[in-house]
Amino acid sequence: MADSSHPIELTVNGEPAEGVVLGRQLLVHFIRDTLGLRGTHIGCDSGNCGACTVIVDGRAIKSCMQLAVQADGSDLRTVESLSAPGEELDELQGAFTKHHALQCGYCTPGMLMSATALLDDADALTLDEIRRGLKGNICRCTGYVNIVHAVEDVAERRGKRSA
Ligand code: FES
Ligand code: FES
Repeated sequence: MADSSHPIELTVNGEPAEGVVLGRQLLVHFIRDTLGLRGTHIGCDSGNCGACTVIVDGRAIKSCMQLAVQADGSDLRTVESLSAPGEELDELQGAFTKHHALQCGYCTPGMLMSATALLDDADALTLDEIRRGLKGNICRCTGYVNIVHAVEDVAERRGKRSA
């Protein structure tokens, strides 16, 4: 099973995609190496850092913790779905820029995808809920304060900020 090949079909950032994956291949490697979407980062390969976070069927997941074959038939969103190179940044990316919510940027794609799922999913978010929603994403640079401000800003603009 681990070394056998499996065809998979899925939707990636709104477009149909397919590939042949090994049973043991991680989703993050399929995304980066087969699909060529290098915005999804690998920080630890052990489910701890969140750099590899993507959205599968509306849920933020760590793509180093899922096999590629499990993504068969799913709707996958990577950070590239937020804005294409040369396009205007999406609202959350703009808020990260405005609030200086990144330094080296290594954690940023994962942070953006966790926050995107959080903002899409919630009707209203308290400060605690925002912090908890980002708990699975580690940043070694920013101290998190500005990242939380950026997410709060977007929640406020969308009428989803709660006391
Ligand atoms: S690379 Fe997946 S959690 Fe760190
Ligand atoms: S900005 Fe450097 S790890 Fe988060």
